[in-house]
Amino acid sequence: METQTRPVNILGIESSCDETAAAVVADGRTVKSSVIASQAELHKKYGGVVPEIASRAHIEKIYPVIAEAMARAGVVAADIDAVAVANQPGLTIALIVGVTAAKALSFVWEKPLIAINHLHAHLQSAMLAAETLELPAVALIVSGGHTCLYDCESPLELKLLGSTIDDAAGEAFDKVATILKLPYPGGPSIEKAAKYGAPKAVDFPRSMLGASSLDFSFSGIKTAVLYYCRGQDMKGPSNVDSMSKQEIADIAASFQAAVIDVLVKKTQRAAKETDARTVLLGGGVAANNELRCALQQMCDSSKPPRKLLCAPKQYCTDNAVMVASLAYHKFKAGLFADLTLEPKSRGQ
Ligand code: KG4
Ligand code: ZN
Repeated sequence: METQTRPVNILGIESSCDETAAAVVADGRTVKSSVIASQAELHKKYGGVVPEIASRAHIEKIYPVIAEAMARAGVVAADIDAVAVANQPGLTIALIVGVTAAKALSFVWEKPLIAINHLHAHLQSAMLAAETLELPAVALIVSGGHTCLYDCESPLELKLLGSTIDDAAGEAFDKVATILKLPYPGGPSIEKAAKYGAPKAVDFPRSMLGASSLDFSFSGIKTAVLYYCRGQDMKGPSNVDSMSKQEIADIAASFQAAVIDVLVKKTQRAAKETDARTVLLGGGVAANNELRCALQQMCDSSKPPRKLLCAPKQYCTDNAVMVASLAYHKFKAGLFADLTLEPKSRGQ
């Protein structure tokens, strides 16, 4: 039998929310191309992602984005060994666009199809930064739709330890940005405003859900910010318009500090419980510098210190490199999907 000597090239496709993305990655590690068409401008005036608009934009962009990823990588169909797609979790009418494109290409090119869990792919972004993974490892995945802690044996062996029971961390950032009338997307706006604010100016609640829980809850803090800005009775107009830039910055910094406090304490809890040598951080909120620094401090001050692996900044928010990279492990394990593959809105 002929053995393949060239690297395994995987085309990854991502369309779970508001980014249409495609990438070609060799052997799960070498990024040959990464193309992302962001829809942020389209959703800006609504202050959040509108599923129908997202789906239509994915339909328009999916083939140009894939064609560009192939061209930038300098590959043709014959050089591709498998087509991978994030099929869960996400907005079903957005996911279906990527899934349909991937199935069509897999069928026409006669290449295997690989189904990828979007959250597990975020975790894989953190592994991109490291040559080896020292076990045991715990992973914190913080995105716009999810907040999860995993016990991580390998890229394919993940055990969910805890997740949010209401809002995700990124969702809380986005909603609080709307309350503070800061531009969409909220996460980067809050981080920018918080730079000039005092993190102890307002004592927002930290919801820990009991002494041993590894679940998260962020709806309480969002409501606390709303009450702070509109008064407990919610009868008057928002005070935000009459607040100074400094007051807004103080609220942003205090909110950010409270969310990070919870994320770090829960991750520390999970790391202690599993005796983790390594902590992984991925997802859109992982782009936040304060969170990265706070987790680094937690890892450095643990005894013995733990190693922190953060997803590179360009692979924190949604991208297809993480999809193609994780797919390499499924390719090696022979874990393929077939043309009955469907999008699923849920799946941690
Ligand atoms: O992973 P992602 O691109 O999409 C989902 O899978 O949901 O994450 C997007 C989320 C948004 O809620 C966005 O506000 C948040 O990540 N985000 C941030 C930052 N950059 C993006 N949150 C806090 N600080 C940031 N710098
Ligand atoms: Zn994501």
